[in-house]
Amino acid sequence: MKALIASGGRGTRLRPITHTRNKHLIPIANKPILHYAIEAVVEGGIREIAIVVNADSTEVQQAIGNGDRWGVSITYIPQEVPGGLAQVVALSEQFMGKEKFIFFLGDNLVVGGVRRFIEEFERSDCNAFLTLSRVKDPERFGVPELKGGRIIRIEEKPKNPKSTYAVAGIYLYDHHIFEAVKAIQPSARGELEISDAHQYLIDAGKRIGYAEITGWWKDTGKPTDLLEANRLILDNATPSIEGDVDARSTIAGKVVIQRGARIINSVVRGPAIIGEGCVIEDAFIGPFTSIGNETTIRGSEVEYSIILRECRILNVRIRLEGSILGNDVEVVEGTGKPHVHRFMIGDQSRVEVV
Ligand code: G1P
Repeated sequence: MKALIASGGRGTRLRPITHTRNKHLIPIANKPILHYAIEAVVEGGIREIAIVVNADSTEVQQAIGNGDRWGVSITYIPQEVPGGLAQVVALSEQFMGKEKFIFFLGDNLVVGGVRRFIEEFERSDCNAFLTLSRVKDPERFGVPELKGGRIIRIEEKPKNPKSTYAVAGIYLYDHHIFEAVKAIQPSARGELEISDAHQYLIDAGKRIGYAEITGWWKDTGKPTDLLEANRLILDNATPSIEGDVDARSTIAGKVVIQRGARIINSVVRGPAIIGEGCVIEDAFIGPFTSIGNETTIRGSEVEYSIILRECRILNVRIRLEGSILGNDVEVVEGTGKPHVHRFMIGDQSRVEVV
């Protein structure tokens, strides 16, 4: 088995964070989202991975490297123009040859890994194997129609979903998928839809197996998904304290404090992670918060948020909650006259004030 991981696209729903960063490199619990996909397939026993990247950027290659750090080989396949997930699969045909492979969308997160799906697919005589997850909003996803324990139809983002399952972005295929992705036509949104390729296989009488993801699964398409994914990952983290915590501070619950971070006269209530070299002083860090390296939070309170590296949150009187801050962002107390809110905000940002 080999693996194909998608990391292209523009991440438009995650602007402004994606103006300066590929969405797959946004950190969740201080680790790029893409690492979780790589770690899942490596843990599933796979050693040869292809990652499809945007052809006009090398940031994924630079951030991930050649796979040495996971003891695997990573090959990059450029995609000139985002043309849908079926196109991503088509680009990998030469790399895969006749081998079976797992296709993992680099913005999907799943707890519990993918080993059991790989094993189940290997044991079966299926041509494709899909993973399903129950969701509240199936109309946002590919949705299967099930009958007698079989998938009889798949629709992409249907107005009237035929089930409450989403087809998660973790798919297993044999080489027949290449015939399917070459046969289909672009959808109304101009993309070669992976759901149409699946429907093609069903219509061609191929065997499609499936398994339900019983733990949690998250597709990180929107800002609120990032916060939820961060919550879920932190909830499963192993606590460790490598930084300094002074005697006046309290650390409660699952907390990771990375090397060189200093916690001074503060309360950190986990699950939370505080990155290397951070200074947290006279502050409260509440549950489900990730703080990137070299950030300073002083005289302020932050909860259920993702704060990236080198930010400064200083003497902010109202708790920051449900917030995502990019690199090198300042939120500070306004001083001087007049007593006003003063903003310096780039394109497509969002601020809520009280
Ligand atoms: C894509 C697929 C969809 C699948 C989803 C899973 O949607 O087209 O079938 O359910 O990924 O994350 P997109 O993220 O392109 O909206």
